[in-house]
Amino acid sequence: MSQHTVLTGITTTGIPHLGNYAGAIRPAIESSNTGNAESFFFLADYHALIKCQEPERVRESALAVAATWLACGLDPDKVVFYRQSDIPEITELNWILTCVAAKGLMNRAHAYKAVVQENVEANSADPDKGVTMGLFCYPILMAADILMFNATHVPVGKDQLQHLEMTRDIAQRFNYLFGETFVMPEAVVEESAMVLKGLDGRKMSKSYNNTIPLFESETKLRKLIMKIKTNSLEPGEPKDPDSCTLFGIYSAFATPDEIADLRRRYENGIAWGEAKQFLFEYLNEMLKDKREIYQRLVNDPAEIDRILKKGAERARERATPTMERIRRLVGIGPLAS
Ligand code: TRP
Repeated sequence: MSQHTVLTGITTTGIPHLGNYAGAIRPAIESSNTGNAESFFFLADYHALIKCQEPERVRESALAVAATWLACGLDPDKVVFYRQSDIPEITELNWILTCVAAKGLMNRAHAYKAVVQENVEANSADPDKGVTMGLFCYPILMAADILMFNATHVPVGKDQLQHLEMTRDIAQRFNYLFGETFVMPEAVVEESAMVLKGLDGRKMSKSYNNTIPLFESETKLRKLIMKIKTNSLEPGEPKDPDSCTLFGIYSAFATPDEIADLRRRYENGIAWGEAKQFLFEYLNEMLKDKREIYQRLVNDPAEIDRILKKGAERARERATPTMERIRRLVGIGPLAS
């Protein structure tokens, strides 16, 4: 049995964009295709409910995220690919962990503290305004996701490091109370993960509303690239590639030779219109086939459901006996032994 279990969750809010692709999707899929670790990738749809209470959007995002990962090459035969909500054992474990997690630990969570901070700054009478118990307990559900499968390696963004520490904290407390049960998971932060700039030159992020969705139509993709902010230098004037959003995006995908080549064209004064057209053609070529697969999948949600159900069956083969054991450990279950 492999001792190396990789697990990561993808919150299903919003529609995946180029920045997600370069920073998270592509590296995760590449390592799942090359490494020999057992991998669990799942749609964190219960986490999505914390941020979104519009059912249509929750559904639409789950469909888009699942279709994106599959179109980008996730192989459901290699990776156990499932939906969090299809594994009832996770929410069950969530409750048991809620009963061992200290409230004081949750008080320190950055995501919660940020909202309180905003309320205080806005002189709100209630510092907890807009805070649901879902948001407050978010890290416990994440701990349940991870501990359910005894994941050893958890690829995440830097913003999730605190959640991993909390997971370890909760796991330790459980082990102390009920005996060695959970493995301590480690966060894996891709130091070299690409951070792309968005349309306005700030980090590409759905909260800045400056993203380039990964699988927009060709026409829309071109339009968005034409909108990327550049400066007022004229054609023929040398331009600085390193501060340029277009160049940054290109560099996340092109080969070193291709990058060096475009750098020379910047030095020789490439016109902004030309640079944009060039980037558009490059990205379009890179995404064309994947976009077709994506479209096919989005139009056939039943196919995605089938894939996810299969993944859920495999995940539950592990989760069901684990949960059985955990229930007994805490004193829940058959009275006759
Ligand atoms: N909170 C993670 C994020 O926003 C998503 C997530 C949910 C996750 N459960 C997880 C990541 C378990 C890793 C492991 O990115």
